Amino acid sequence: MSGQNEVPRRAVLAVVAMAPVALAVGAARAQTTGQAPASRGKVALVTGSSRGIGAATARRLARDGYAVTVNCEKNRDLAAGVVREIEATGGRAIWVQADVSDPSAVQRLFEENERAFGGVDVVVSNAGIMRLAPFRDMTDADFSRMVDVNQKGSFYVLREAARRVRDGGRIIALSSSITQLRSPTYGAYAATKAAQELYANILAKELEGRMISVNAMAPGLVNTTLFTDGKTPEQIAGFAARTPHKRLGEPSDIADAIAALCSGDGAWINGQTVFANGGVV
Ligand SMILES: NC(=O)c1ccc[n+]([C@@H]2O[C@H](COP(=O)([O-])OP(=O)(O)OC[C@H]3O[C@@H](n4cnc5c(N)ncnc54)[C@H](OP(=O)(O)O)[C@@H]3O)[C@@H](O)[C@H]2O)c1
Repeated sequence: MSGQNEVPRRAVLAVVAMAPVALAVGAARAQTTGQAPASRGKVALVTGSSRGIGAATARRLARDGYAVTVNCEKNRDLAAGVVREIEATGGRAIWVQADVSDPSAVQRLFEENERAFGGVDVVVSNAGIMRLAPFRDMTDADFSRMVDVNQKGSFYVLREAARRVRDGGRIIALSSSITQLRSPTYGAYAATKAAQELYANILAKELEGRMISVNAMAPGLVNTTLFTDGKTPEQIAGFAARTPHKRLGEPSDIADAIAALCSGDGAWINGQTVFANGGVV
């Protein structure tokens, strides 16, 4: 189901808001020179952007001038809220409900994006879930769902991105710093995230000659429900204390790093895994 009928799709104002701490240097330049950002007129699709890192990324890319397609599985109200926020600051956005574990839903997600905005320049494959248990206790249901959403779902998203992203675009798949930390109970989840690093590296090569850069973004210890659910305040404080900056990451920290990869200055970073974890690894 699409939110297009319930939420106005098109903005009424041109985008003028710029990032205060613009890692996207194209945007920073525009701020100082009054020029339009290079991303103006471009389109970004961010899966799993009703909340957490995906929502922060959708907001950030909208601020940088992208029209944005927001996606959710369950939380339609939150997705609609992200769209309203973007529109309130003069951006353009739609939201589309689509479960990324369903390949036909992923196809529909891209089709609805194209109907609204005419094409896609940036795809962020961010939708993901985490179920933790030692090997001996991991249930079939939790293991299957993680593989379905994280490993298969991201594959379906990257496959559509490979078919549709315009020349000069960017594709980013969300891995995790757990692929380096390798902590107990994270085995099944970490494997689905390691897949993103391989996807990005191989897809970057397949898209040769088109100036499309494909990377994996590997956050760590980010303050979202995915990370905090099931942990006590003491455990969370303990994780924060392990980072050199003595805090958890915020979704905006990751959105800023993704925006940097999406900027013109990110073009030469291709086929890599970029770790954004405040130095915890
Ligand atoms: N937080 C961290 O510390 C951390 C660290 C490393 C990597 N990551 C990765 O970063 C990504 C985002 O994580 P987060 O912390 O922002 O998680 P989050 O706050 O739990 O948000 C997850 C988002 O994914 C969506 N989603 C879940 N299953 C989906 C499905 N089947 N189809 C479409 N959308 C789906 C959710 O939509 P609904 O609202 O509709 O459920 C929500 O928008 C994940 O891939 C995660 O593995 C996170």
